[in-house]
Amino acid sequence: MSCRDPHSFTDFDQGRVVHMDLDLTVDFSTKRLHGTATLKLAEPTSGPLDLDTRDLEVTKVTSPGGAEIPFEVADRDEVMGSRLRLALPDGCDQAIVHYATSPEASALQWLESAQTDGKQHPYLFSQCQAIHARSVIPAQDSPLARFTFHAKMTVPEELTVVMGAAPGEVGAADRPKWRTFTFEMPQSIPPYLFAFAVGNIVSRDLGPRSRVYTEPETLEKAAWEFGGVDGMLTAAEEVFGPYLWDRFDFLVMPASFPYGGMENPRLTFLTPTLLAGDRSLVNVLAHELAHSWTGNLVTNATIDDFWLNEGFTVWAERRILENLDGAEAKSLGAAIGRNGLDEALAQFGPDSPFTRLKTDGKGMDPDEFYSLVPYEKGFLLVSLFEQAAGREKFDAFIKDYIQHFQFTSITTEEFLEFLDKALPGVAAEVDAKRWIYQSGLPDNAPAFESPRLEMLQNLARGWNDGLRPDPREGESWSPEDWQIFLQELPRKLSREDCRWLDESFHLTEQGNAEILCNWLIIAANSGYEPAFDRIRSFLSEVGRMKYLKPLYSALYAGEKTKTLAVEIFADNAGGYHPIARGGLERILAG
Ligand code: BES
Ligand code: ZN
Repeated sequence: MSCRDPHSFTDFDQGRVVHMDLDLTVDFSTKRLHGTATLKLAEPTSGPLDLDTRDLEVTKVTSPGGAEIPFEVADRDEVMGSRLRLALPDGCDQAIVHYATSPEASALQWLESAQTDGKQHPYLFSQCQAIHARSVIPAQDSPLARFTFHAKMTVPEELTVVMGAAPGEVGAADRPKWRTFTFEMPQSIPPYLFAFAVGNIVSRDLGPRSRVYTEPETLEKAAWEFGGVDGMLTAAEEVFGPYLWDRFDFLVMPASFPYGGMENPRLTFLTPTLLAGDRSLVNVLAHELAHSWTGNLVTNATIDDFWLNEGFTVWAERRILENLDGAEAKSLGAAIGRNGLDEALAQFGPDSPFTRLKTDGKGMDPDEFYSLVPYEKGFLLVSLFEQAAGREKFDAFIKDYIQHFQFTSITTEEFLEFLDKALPGVAAEVDAKRWIYQSGLPDNAPAFESPRLEMLQNLARGWNDGLRPDPREGESWSPEDWQIFLQELPRKLSREDCRWLDESFHLTEQGNAEILCNWLIIAANSGYEPAFDRIRSFLSEVGRMKYLKPLYSALYAGEKTKTLAVEIFADNAGGYHPIARGGLERILAG
């Protein structure tokens, strides 16, 4: 099998890297990792072996015996990075790459102590999805190329290393005042799930299989917010079957983390914006947990099949919450998702190829076409399958599907073939091919209804006819209610309407980031000046792209707020994650 992944130089005909031994030192003063990656091949081979790298400085490649292995680094491609070609001698099954990462490594964010909660120690974290692992490790950086690994990470003694792997011994390093942390990853992972963080990190047990890690200042709040994790884990196992990663621990990140969550096996990463104080945003934890099956066990073959990861996971997230909180919770979640989907479809335009589930991203940067389409259009399609098959049969199907493909990476077509065998006729009945290969939203999209949802939608949609929520009643709305109501309101309101909303419900002082952001988007679109200070401070506090992108877009689209967008960005760009910075630069370029 040669290369099937348009975003990787991997060629399995040359060999397969199935295990890696990493030995890296973390140098905060130069913002580099340096050390070795020992690549172990499935079987002895010879000749060229192509690896993905981006901005890695490779100094030497050797065999375990110390003989030099010739190598060549090709010119850097803007999207793919640089192909590293090793010339393996006869019978070679191991190569040791001696290298350092670049201070600009796209997967890494190096934080100054001022950017952490404690303000005393620097912090470093990785974010490898979709194709950033290659900026940290020389790898066959395709989701098709699973590997196990062992890692040694050496850091200054006041810092702690956590990793998506089983922690092993911690001991004194060769140099004074440094420590070495060891990790073992027994389950094979695709490279995009390789993850670690370094900082002043502590932890607390939340259940027999779960522990929360974070900075000491955040531990109490995080432990309370996600205290229900063990119940989620049990509910998820009921939907999918046994949890195969031993532990489900998670790390609450510094604020600059660019995503809501990242499903790194054995150590999910979560944005601190989930710490609302009322457990109202735990759906993100349910989502990342669900990836333990859909995504981490059964993985998309390439980024073009990304909907297999995300569509199934959104479906699973809502299914788990339905089991825990009831059908109405699911309808509200689905409605919030649908609003996001409609917005994405409108932005791309109905004929855009980015509104297909199966994409063709060759030559394009996955970060650039990331959107809610694979999530929410995917969710709707999986829900259609469920409706067509009936719940009981679909529940059995999901477990079979996971078990059949666990620890492999599959294409959309392999999924469809399995679906047709397991549930004959279901794909045809819902016109799955239309959903997958054509753009836009087919008209058999399922609707999720509930009396509460209908009340909120009617109220918001009647805004221009003078309908208003009763301020006293609004006080008792749940965070989901508020999200839906604000999302359904007209994007632009008069100054008077903005003032009324804010004075009645104190939205600018909201502690729930979802409610706050939905409100600030309206305020930005409406050019509502009294909210500008909060917009500015919010944009300096958070790094989550879900909030940054729509807010900057709204500001940038307004005649009067365009310069404000540019100014706020100039003040804060240095603190944003490189991926977020890139995305915002594209927005602010026009
Ligand atoms: N795996 C994604 C995050 C991701 C996707 C990172 C693509 C890089 C490239 C994660 O599981 C995710 O979907 N996070 C969402 C959570 C939400 C849908 C509940 C997020 O970050 O908002
Ligand atoms: Zn996801």
